[in-house]
Amino acid sequence: MKIKFNTITFLEDILNEVAEKIGLSLEIFKPDVRVSDPRFGDLQANGILTAAKRSRCNPRELAEKFVEELNRINEGQFEKIGISGPGFLNFKLSKLYHKEYFDHYCNNSFFDNYKNLNYFNKNIIIDYPSPNTAKQMHVGHLRILVIGEAISRLLEFCGSKVIRDNHIGDWGTNFGVLIFEIKRVNYQFNKDDSKTLEELESLYKSGMSYCKDEENHPGALDEARLELVKLQQGDPENMELWKHIVRVSNSACEKIYELFGVHPDVTLGESFYRDKVNRVYDELISLRIAEEDAGALVVWQKAEDKEKGNIAPFIIRKKDGGSNYGSTDLATVLYRSEHFNADEVIYVTDDRQKEHFKMLFSTVDRWFSQKKYPLPKLCHVTFGKILGEDGKPIKTKSGESIKLKALVNEATERALTIVKEKNTDLDMEEMEKISTIVGISSIKYADLLQNRTLDYMFSWKRLLAFEGNTAPYLLYAVVRINSVFKKMELSLDDYLNKNIGFANFTEPEEIEIVKKLEVFENVINLSVSELKLHYICTYIYELAGLFSVFYSKCKINVEDGNIRDFRLKLCATTAMVLKRCLKILSIDTLEKM
Ligand code: ARG
Repeated sequence: MKIKFNTITFLEDILNEVAEKIGLSLEIFKPDVRVSDPRFGDLQANGILTAAKRSRCNPRELAEKFVEELNRINEGQFEKIGISGPGFLNFKLSKLYHKEYFDHYCNNSFFDNYKNLNYFNKNIIIDYPSPNTAKQMHVGHLRILVIGEAISRLLEFCGSKVIRDNHIGDWGTNFGVLIFEIKRVNYQFNKDDSKTLEELESLYKSGMSYCKDEENHPGALDEARLELVKLQQGDPENMELWKHIVRVSNSACEKIYELFGVHPDVTLGESFYRDKVNRVYDELISLRIAEEDAGALVVWQKAEDKEKGNIAPFIIRKKDGGSNYGSTDLATVLYRSEHFNADEVIYVTDDRQKEHFKMLFSTVDRWFSQKKYPLPKLCHVTFGKILGEDGKPIKTKSGESIKLKALVNEATERALTIVKEKNTDLDMEEMEKISTIVGISSIKYADLLQNRTLDYMFSWKRLLAFEGNTAPYLLYAVVRINSVFKKMELSLDDYLNKNIGFANFTEPEEIEIVKKLEVFENVINLSVSELKLHYICTYIYELAGLFSVFYSKCKINVEDGNIRDFRLKLCATTAMVLKRCLKILSIDTLEKM
């Protein structure tokens, strides 16, 4: 038996081998190996029960057959193989196994051993942050930025070519009112685009209330609509205003992206597709997928929906002939497939858009398959709400949604207070640098730590705490390992390459760390399969916890050179894995804290 990088796969392969040997077909037997409750061992295989049921034999007897065969081929990898319950197999891996694992894998090429076939060498488009133009980014965009970036990095880690495509909403109906109001109050853009997004936002608000007040301003709303039509027809004056608006808006958003470490590879907003929607209409009409309905062009998902009339169809062209969110999104999928050869497109938005994407995906499915266009996998990644400590969606005191700029400022300020309390020996510049990273990391980490589909409660106290599963705790764990090397005047990176001969286990705490390293690949696989980052957060928290136990129990700078080198290499590997995982989560690590 040769040891593999992935402990779970390693065992699954062995079990499959044994199953074949004892005449159990692999159709019937699936090993189902998991990390087990430590009372029973390291790993547990649950597949015997189902296989026994399917092949109508006694599970306990089948388990015994497995154990007998496993004992025959065990060359020291397992310390104990046992049976528990009605027929679960329990495995305790041997010290030899962990030793060999450490010797082979705990070095600089740790990550090179990881391959995820589903995402290796694939072209992935991630559609985010994709905000709407002329509005400040608020707390509703927080999860998009954080989750979108982490998924991008996760898939890059798996070997994908990721394109972050910022599909901004720059062709929406709000431009009608905005342009109307700009003209009404004779608002002037200046050449240097020094106008602010805040101003545009209040213009939209005042324009909206003006137009809605039909009693005093009859016809205003129609005029605003006309401005939109003029824009869509390419009227030069309106186009010029539109360009200004988009520029002001983009430059304000870019500052926010920067704060979050988000760098879109392309920004192809809705307006980019305005000359590409006619092809969509033509093809969908000639394929009889789309049809006219009360002046609009629509796609019915099912014939019976149309008959019953209680479910709305997917509208892809408005009554006035204008394109909409549906048509631009259809054109976008086609472009991504033809221009970027996308293997998969991932949209990150909140779940209020669930219906839109459901209809979009099913329309694309019918359209592409009839045309025999290569169909990328389409995936809508959604997330729960962020709640305040009162359990309601968070808002400012005056009831508005919190602006992201303000949120990040507050995080940095709060972090600075904490950093100041903890460090008296750092100068102000250093403390500011540290608090910027601690502040933003804490926000990101608190978000990613939750299963993204659930709502989570935002609490400053919790997310900035140095104890518990938080960014400060993990950043501090990395700092602590760095300082071990600094104190001994050694280089952590050198230790990753250093040939120390062999793993010199003397304490159980050392083995516990290695065991955690052994399941790294499984954690990444799980995270990728669901595009959920909380698995990685739990993993690094546990790894840091095991390290902390080891660190308080085992002295590192000991007399015995073999033990010292082994412990140092263990430290270096732990730091490397923590840092790499944090990098996936888009969290920068610190040298000092
Ligand atoms: N601009 C939209 C909004 O802010 C999100 C766009 C998501 N991407 C897409 N291709 N529909 O709600």
